[in-house]
Amino acid sequence: MERCAALLVREPWLLRGRWRDEFPGYKELHLEIGCGRGRFTVETAKLHPDVFFVALERVADAMIIGLEKAMAEGLRNIRFMTQDASNLLEFFADGEVDRIYLNFSDPWPGKRHAKRRLTSERFLPIYKKILRPGGEIHFKTDNPELFDYSLGTFREAGFALSEITRNLHENGPVGVMTDYEMKFYAQGVSICRCVATFLGEGEQPAQDDGAGRTEKVDE
Ligand SMILES: C[S@@+](CC[C@H](N)C(=O)[O-])C[C@H]1O[C@@H](n2cnc3c(N)ncnc32)[C@H](O)[C@@H]1O
Repeated sequence: MERCAALLVREPWLLRGRWRDEFPGYKELHLEIGCGRGRFTVETAKLHPDVFFVALERVADAMIIGLEKAMAEGLRNIRFMTQDASNLLEFFADGEVDRIYLNFSDPWPGKRHAKRRLTSERFLPIYKKILRPGGEIHFKTDNPELFDYSLGTFREAGFALSEITRNLHENGPVGVMTDYEMKFYAQGVSICRCVATFLGEGEQPAQDDGAGRTEKVDE
């Protein structure tokens, strides 16, 4: 961790509302929540040097691999933080984030722990605060029950849904894969994906068709 200190944000609350001042020149700020070993954010940051990436993970040990990779690659447009998503409002001001990635979030089956799901009604209001109007959540999971649940909570919270698919890699690999995704892909497990767009407070989405459309994945 010490070797990678340059890419680690230890006091993210000091950057609240100041990310763009501290890291100027980037067209957008993208945040991955629950980055695990960080493969997705590191590879995506390499593809998009004009975007600034923040990878958040509450388990420091998991993140070290991504941190070391980003250091070794000399990436400048990425930072990591060991924090819990419950505290996001302390780290980002209203509308400061352009895109959130939720990749293979823990499903927390059973009603008892539903509020721990990163797509639960506990977390969506937090994302709506830190996302700018028009900002997006890109969500991928191998778990169909979590996917159905999340389509419901996104709709309930007023997000507009698009790019809904239940078999993202049906015709071959699409986009940057996470560590979990590579494992599932090798096992032939279908991956679900959707994009949920925050339209702004009080804005209502047009009815989505929910019909499983697959569109281009740019990451
Ligand atoms: C199943 S893993 C997926 C890791 C990675 N996104 C991937 O696809 O390879 C889920 C990760 O989310 C992290 N996580 C779960 N809840 C979190 C929270 N509230 N705040 C931050 N990280 C969280 C876990 O520690 C774990 O590393």
